[in-house]
Amino acid sequence: MPRFTSLLALLSIGALAGAASVPEDCPPTGVSVIAHSGDPVGKEQVHEGINILADSFGRAGYLTVAPDLFNGTPAPGDINGRPDFNVTKFLDDHRPEVTDPIIETAIDFLRTKLGVKKVVATGYCFGGRYTFRFLAEGKGVDVGFAAHPSLLEDAEISALNGPASIAAADADDMTPPARRSQIEALLLETGFPYSLALYGGTQHGFGVRANVSDPKQKFGKEEAFFQAIRWFNAWA
Ligand SMILES: *[C@@H]1O[C@H](CO)[C@@H](O)[C@H](O)[C@H]1NC(C)=O
Ligand SMILES: *[C@@H]1O[C@H](CO)[C@@H](O)[C@H](O)[C@H]1NC(C)=O
Repeated sequence: MPRFTSLLALLSIGALAGAASVPEDCPPTGVSVIAHSGDPVGKEQVHEGINILADSFGRAGYLTVAPDLFNGTPAPGDINGRPDFNVTKFLDDHRPEVTDPIIETAIDFLRTKLGVKKVVATGYCFGGRYTFRFLAEGKGVDVGFAAHPSLLEDAEISALNGPASIAAADADDMTPPARRSQIEALLLETGFPYSLALYGGTQHGFGVRANVSDPKQKFGKEEAFFQAIRWFNAWA
């Protein structure tokens, strides 16, 4: 039986689900939960949807579990030119009351079935918000990382109960500079370890889907991954 010492939830590679005006959303992939292991990496797939990123966390020594945040109903990969895609309906169908239980199930699976003692979470876009929601007291995540979180609310930042790190894009129209400053101020107020790294020449979604032919985007994507790993290794 592997001895898992900590665990990481890759909360979402979710569709951006934010605004039709955003040029590119995130791919409609599922979510991962990753458990750190002192032993050779194991991987438990609770849903289809483990992707390259989850595998990367796995290679870094974290058991990865990927629940499907959208429960089989993701947004189309590209919502541009899709007038039939109703963002309002999508967000309503995937509101926190619907999404939280999916993540709760994954965390419970890791803790009770796998015996994992520490849970860390990594979320992207839509899922970034859930990193924060589950870093609140008693919600089951010990350390969190989020890349370009969307729809993140002030109260969700203020409620965090553990170290949090964010990778931000300088051209993220979901999080313009003024909003970024507010997020920094709220993180400071929590009193927990935090970091926010800003990557130049990147857009919303870069932590998951970057144009790797563009050196700035390629660097940002790679560095955001290492940021997450360093953060978890330091604080979990
Ligand atoms: C989009 O969805 C919302 C909520 O379900 C609904 O009220 C609205 O009429 C829909 N809009 C269109 C254009 O279908
Ligand atoms: C990706 O980046 C390269 C280099 O900047 C650029 O030439 C290419 O058009 C980009 N591709 C897309 C799909 O934006």
